[in-house]
Amino acid sequence: PANPVEKNDLVGRKVIVTAGGTREPLDPVRYIGNRSSGKMGYALAEAAKARGAQVTLISGPTKLKPPEGVAYVPVETAAEMRQAVLAEYQVADIVIKAAAVADYKPQQVALQKIKKAGDTLTLVLEKNPDILLELGQRKNQQILIGFAAETESLLEHAGDKLMRKNLDMIVANDVTQAGAGFNADTNIVKLLYRDGRIEEIAQMTKRELADVIFDKIQQIVKK
Ligand code: CTP
Ligand code: CA
Repeated sequence: PANPVEKNDLVGRKVIVTAGGTREPLDPVRYIGNRSSGKMGYALAEAAKARGAQVTLISGPTKLKPPEGVAYVPVETAAEMRQAVLAEYQVADIVIKAAAVADYKPQQVALQKIKKAGDTLTLVLEKNPDILLELGQRKNQQILIGFAAETESLLEHAGDKLMRKNLDMIVANDVTQAGAGFNADTNIVKLLYRDGRIEEIAQMTKRELADVIFDKIQQIVKK
């Protein structure tokens, strides 16, 4: 693969990227998690750094090494991710939420390992804060970008999230497609904007897509 585009167009910009999946503890040895690999978020952090930005990467646990030169903030739960993002949000120029945040967490975290007992086990879950929704409500100068991973009605669901969460752009991916979504090295996405425009992006590596996303963000900034 060719070297990514060489640009310095993010010099002086502060970029926050969230990546990976959150983990919600159930007891001292178990958690509820998801299949996010973190690859898209790490590619975004790397691209932003390469283009000269000051980058904070806030990430759930992954198998990846944080890119050189980015401020790395490891988190586990949605609540921790929320705290970490809000701590730097007011001074950020671009915020991209690529993380797969758990929508629900166990209502009770058992202090001791849950023992095997009956034939069924019922867990009660309660809603986590929607971090991106909150960021949209508090938005000032920030360009705010979300992701939507869907298995059906991609454009409807992504378009709804774009408007409801007050985003500038949403990256919609149909995770049922081969070569897209969780754990793949490539992605196939559609970019949705507030004015109703939809751009279809051909299959490419997540690192290449990261540069395309920053190109599009620069166009939003210039408007
Ligand atoms: N998101 C978030 N906090 C949450 C849930 C989601 O910040 N508690 C963010 C994700 O990081 C992503 C965007 O919201 O950028 C969309 O996430 P998604 O799971 O697709 O949407 P939800 O609003 O959670 O709706 P649903 O899961 O029901 O489709
Ligand atoms: Ca969700």
